[in-house]
Amino acid sequence: MNELSPLFVDVRSRRKALQMPQAVLAEAAGLSLNYIMRIERGLLVPSADQTRSLERVLGVLPKAAMAPISGEGYVTSMSAEGRLIRRTRDHDMGLRPVWDLFCGVGGFSAGFEATGEFEVVAGLDLLGDRLETFTANHGAANAYGGDIRNITTDTLLGENERPFAVIGGPPCQGFSSIRPFRNVEWGDLRNNLAEEFCRVVAAARPKWLVFENVVGLLTHNGGKTVEMLQGAFEGIGYKVSARVMNAAFHGLPQRRERLIIVGSLEGKTFEWPVPTHNHGRRSMAGSSRLLLAPELGLLEATEPAVTLLEAIGNLPPVSAGQTTDQYLDIPETRYQELIRAGAKILTMHDGTAHSPEMLNIIRHAGDNINALPPGMVTSGFSSCYSRLAPNEPANTITVNFVHPASNRCIHPYQDRALTPREGARLQGFSDTFNFRGTRSQIVKQIGNAVPPILGRCIAEALLDAD
Ligand SMILES: C[S@@+](CC[C@H](N)C(=O)[O-])C[C@H]1O[C@@H](n2cnc3c(N)ncnc32)[C@H](O)[C@@H]1O
Repeated sequence: MNELSPLFVDVRSRRKALQMPQAVLAEAAGLSLNYIMRIERGLLVPSADQTRSLERVLGVLPKAAMAPISGEGYVTSMSAEGRLIRRTRDHDMGLRPVWDLFCGVGGFSAGFEATGEFEVVAGLDLLGDRLETFTANHGAANAYGGDIRNITTDTLLGENERPFAVIGGPPCQGFSSIRPFRNVEWGDLRNNLAEEFCRVVAAARPKWLVFENVVGLLTHNGGKTVEMLQGAFEGIGYKVSARVMNAAFHGLPQRRERLIIVGSLEGKTFEWPVPTHNHGRRSMAGSSRLLLAPELGLLEATEPAVTLLEAIGNLPPVSAGQTTDQYLDIPETRYQELIRAGAKILTMHDGTAHSPEMLNIIRHAGDNINALPPGMVTSGFSSCYSRLAPNEPANTITVNFVHPASNRCIHPYQDRALTPREGARLQGFSDTFNFRGTRSQIVKQIGNAVPPILGRCIAEALLDAD
């Protein structure tokens, strides 16, 4: 081995230490530049052969399988390549089995299970902390760690019940290009995560597929991406239907829009859930034809949308840097009662320890960045450093909701950003949902999830359609 060899080194830091540009490493190791970039970001784990090539050039075993994954600019998670956490209880044969690809903590899964008709029997995710939380809440599921590209459908089919439904939402970076599937040979051409979803569906042949993603996918590549994706699902035999759903219309105290594609192998018609709650705001989907469902539903909606205070207003006040595990004994709204789910000890209700400078900004914060005195901050979108409105559903919760510089996330009355507990409630996770990991991992787990309420709503419509 070489004289610099530390016990652990990731590809990027080793390359930088050698002052070697990525392109030079790529050429010398016989790998594409794109591949090197993905390895360095922790999105891909090199095969044994590729590891040997990298070792030859870098002079040290890169152990990329253990390299930290950096998210949103700072390191929070570790890849779980090759890890399998086995189920701790048997699958209830009376329930319809579901596979959740890109399962995260299983917010989507929790929604399906909340119907009492489905059970998630397999989950798959790149990150170890996601898997830990997923398995803590979905005991009947085998949980596969690592890049989906490295997991064979033979493994999934060999170890799990054939699914009634395959559900999942790949991260949006996975849409560089999508090929039409009709005449495609599966093989080394596989290059993006939506195709991976399709690959698993094509092999498992579930009665239903449910694909979830960001609304931005609608305009990606001039709308061609979503068209090709729908074409891909049709190409493997599914009758598909797509809509933008806003979770606020279905009882979540948050305006969160998602593109949902549902497919039926038997050519059944899926009726989109009619909204039950009403909130008059413009949609991120603009004039897209896929917005039809919420618009129609609004005419029939009966209740006003659940507001921020109706969701978190009974939690005890905490200051920046403080925490408490005591609930307050005050009357609860219907949402508060449901979301507390009988919990006795309050968890994750800790305020971020803001710096004195940030506290000063927070004290001046209002509806948008313009509420701050001129020059107090030098950059940011309109919604940065802003307070949430108390009597409306919250803005979309992001993976940075404990940091005031990100999308509106400052408490309406208290001088701090939302606590992880408040974020979890706004995402519809009950106070008894078992989150595992560090605080920053948990914040990302929450911000990335499909709200269980949305999952449940789709799952119920699926039962109706089946
Ligand atoms: C939007 S989140 C999914 C949230 C999840 N549906 C939920 O409800 O909690 C996307 C997930 O995809 C995972 N992921 C990203 N790239 C992946 C890959 N190549 N293979 C497997 N999982 C991946 C991420 O770790 C992340 O947890």
